[in-house]
Amino acid sequence: MRGNLSRNPRNPRRVELTTVRILIVGANGTIGKAVAAELSERHEIVTAGRSSGSFQVNIADPKSVSELFSAVAKVDAVVCAAGNVHFGPLEEMTAEQFDIGLRDKLMGQVNLVLAGREFVSSGGSFTLIAGTLSQDPVRFGVSASMVNGALESFVRAAAIELRDHRINAVSPSVLQESMGAYGPYFRGFEPVPAKRVALAFSRSVEGAQTGRIYRVE
Ligand SMILES: NC(=O)c1ccc[n+]([C@@H]2O[C@H](COP(=O)([O-])OP(=O)(O)OC[C@H]3O[C@@H](n4cnc5c(N)ncnc54)[C@H](OP(=O)(O)O)[C@@H]3O)[C@@H](O)[C@H]2O)c1
Repeated sequence: MRGNLSRNPRNPRRVELTTVRILIVGANGTIGKAVAAELSERHEIVTAGRSSGSFQVNIADPKSVSELFSAVAKVDAVVCAAGNVHFGPLEEMTAEQFDIGLRDKLMGQVNLVLAGREFVSSGGSFTLIAGTLSQDPVRFGVSASMVNGALESFVRAAAIELRDHRINAVSPSVLQESMGAYGPYFRGFEPVPAKRVALAFSRSVEGAQTGRIYRVE
């Protein structure tokens, strides 16, 4: 990984992190923008989104994800701030509506890890996005709870087997910036600013831990 910790020759006791190349999927979203702002201060950022960003991808489609990595080529870290789930009352939920979260937020991020293994440099990392509903369910969020829980389990298990790469997930509470849209589902929750969520991504990408779920609450 190009971003190994290195010694400053003028001050050998000072450790510095050199610039790395980071692919951010969903970089134009509420979370993605904050993550890009935080990491672009120190690193080269490559942006991707469904229709926004320098590269277009549909993470739910494994072929589209493979094409993304072929086009982007080598990176040192992959960050995902994308993934859709259906919100709705359980008594009206259909299998097709559950399938949205399974294919998009869950398998979409797994697709990024599977295809990304050969394009992420040795010692590099994957950071996925989960969410507080895995621990703290709310009405109408049953699909999101299921998918976020599965993502956490995937990260813990994958960390055991990924030899050359680290993998973590960030699990935020509802964002301050999203209260307009999600507020009614999250009454009584203390919303968190996107800037704090971005710091958790920074810990994952620029730190040394693996198999961790960084909760931002
Ligand atoms: N916002 C919250 O309060 C909150 C809290 C906890 C967890 N989360 C989770 O965080 C993730 C991002 O949330 P957000 O609020 O930042 O979303 P957002 O503002 O809607 O942004 C989503 C970003 O992901 C991209 N995207 C969406 N579906 C995609 C797909 N299938 N393939 C590739 N790119 C895709 C979008 O691309 P375009 O820009 O091209 O549309 C956009 O850049 C979601 O999984 C959400 O469940 C959010």
